[in-house]
Amino acid sequence: MRPTRWWQTGVVYQVYPRSFGDSNGDGVGDLEGIRRHLDYLVWLGVDAIWISPFYRSPMKDFGYDVSDHTDVDPLFGDLAAFNRLLADAHARGLRVIVDFVPNHTSDQHAWFIESRSSRDSPKRGWYVWRDPKPDGGPPSNWISVFGGSAWALDGSTGQYYLHSFLAEQPDLDWRNPDVKHAMFDVLRFWLDRGVDGFRIDVAQFIAKDPLYRDNPPHPEPERLAHMGAWSRQLHLYDHGHPDLHGIYREFRALLDAYPGDRVSIGELHDEQIEVWAGFYGHNLDEIHIPFNFHLLFATWDAARIRTIVDGIEAALPVGAWPNWVLGNHDQRRIASRLGQAQARVAMLLLLTLRGTPTLYYGDELGLPDAELRPDQVRDPWGLVEPTQGRDPGRSPMPWDGTANAGFCAPDVEPWLPFAPGHDRRNVAAQLEESASLLSMTRRLIRLRREHPALAEGVHRTIDGSPSGTFCFLRSPDGDGTHPAVLVALNLTAESRPIELHHGSGRVLDGTHPERIGAAVDTAALELRPDEGLVVEVAG
Ligand code: NOJ
Repeated sequence: MRPTRWWQTGVVYQVYPRSFGDSNGDGVGDLEGIRRHLDYLVWLGVDAIWISPFYRSPMKDFGYDVSDHTDVDPLFGDLAAFNRLLADAHARGLRVIVDFVPNHTSDQHAWFIESRSSRDSPKRGWYVWRDPKPDGGPPSNWISVFGGSAWALDGSTGQYYLHSFLAEQPDLDWRNPDVKHAMFDVLRFWLDRGVDGFRIDVAQFIAKDPLYRDNPPHPEPERLAHMGAWSRQLHLYDHGHPDLHGIYREFRALLDAYPGDRVSIGELHDEQIEVWAGFYGHNLDEIHIPFNFHLLFATWDAARIRTIVDGIEAALPVGAWPNWVLGNHDQRRIASRLGQAQARVAMLLLLTLRGTPTLYYGDELGLPDAELRPDQVRDPWGLVEPTQGRDPGRSPMPWDGTANAGFCAPDVEPWLPFAPGHDRRNVAAQLEESASLLSMTRRLIRLRREHPALAEGVHRTIDGSPSGTFCFLRSPDGDGTHPAVLVALNLTAESRPIELHHGSGRVLDGTHPERIGAAVDTAALELRPDEGLVVEVAG
């Protein structure tokens, strides 16, 4: 099935608003700061920006604790600033996707303040309140993603409320129809303003076991080691209930009733590919882009990457469109996970696979993790579990080589330190170099748009390439009149000979730009250490 929708052919770029551009001199990025950098995003060639939350919030989880869903936090500006950003983005052909945080609110949200005021409050049933167990303990053994029990006792009303994340992020009860109506009204508010879609925060959390049964221990806790203490349980009951599908069908219908191809992107963490694929919906009537994080958590090994890519391609429901993610605001930076050389290979993979890529701001520069002193830690998870701190991947965007890198005024302290090497690794410096990761990213985004094989071609993994390499072919449907594209990746630091018997080809792009334009024989191709090549071959 040919991709025809903008969200299929386009590239999504995630902006973490605290870290993109500070326009008002407080060291924290804001909406006007994003607006001032729109031309960069157009130059880079992305199609849409997804902006992490900028709503009113006490910022206990940097905006994922929303206290007013329909207003902008003064830290980021106001609704007028959002309108300007949206209008200017649209004027440049850029779509704007906003975050939707359905599972929880801030404990300072008027709904929760009302809900906790008394057991008889009309909003009591908007959140999940339960009596203590007979011994006074929490109603179940569920643990918060950020550590500790997921239940907090409210002393004045004598009941526990559920919080899958911080105690300051109480969970809404989506089994209550009033909650669903109110949250769907939030969607309408932003759709009416003209946003092009939503990224749905922890989309699997909004339906839980209605009996609140205890989770069993995880038989292989090391499998989810990146989740810290949360990895110790098998999360059968605290999220992922099948009732989710009905909610997302309604969600989708709401979006589809609006003109202009609005999109939903779901944050879904599920090791089981079939469960993940289920969120497209039986008739592709649920989430447009169920985020596919399988590459993000993969061991960077060619055989593993191949298994993932083939597994995702095989698991897709008929007509479903894949998507790929390599970085986001919750993970370490790709350049620190893989090193600079393989970060280039990874970017080339992201931009040549079949499916919508989501690019995390700064990864196009190869930003490494920022290094923080203990007194610079800001992330609540990092304060509770130091190994889980997410600040290193959220450092300010370095625009140039001046003091404070053009992110904020030179005399202002940015809210987090810059990643090391920002005096060289910044937009202005990399713009100048054709060999930079930024230049390669920009070229590949254009190539993916212009070359039919990359824009819409089917995917076929090529068997028999040497260990440590992953090769695939992207071929446009049809009679073979359009050339195909061969992608050959060397995930090792040693050279690898490839014999693919495809005959001659021409290098369209690659991690080593001096090869661009060269004629190559794909039946006898020497991949250099850490090299990725995009080669046009006969269809
Ligand atoms: C997932 C978000 O990406 C993360 O940053 C946040 O802390 C949790 N959801 C809770 O909202």
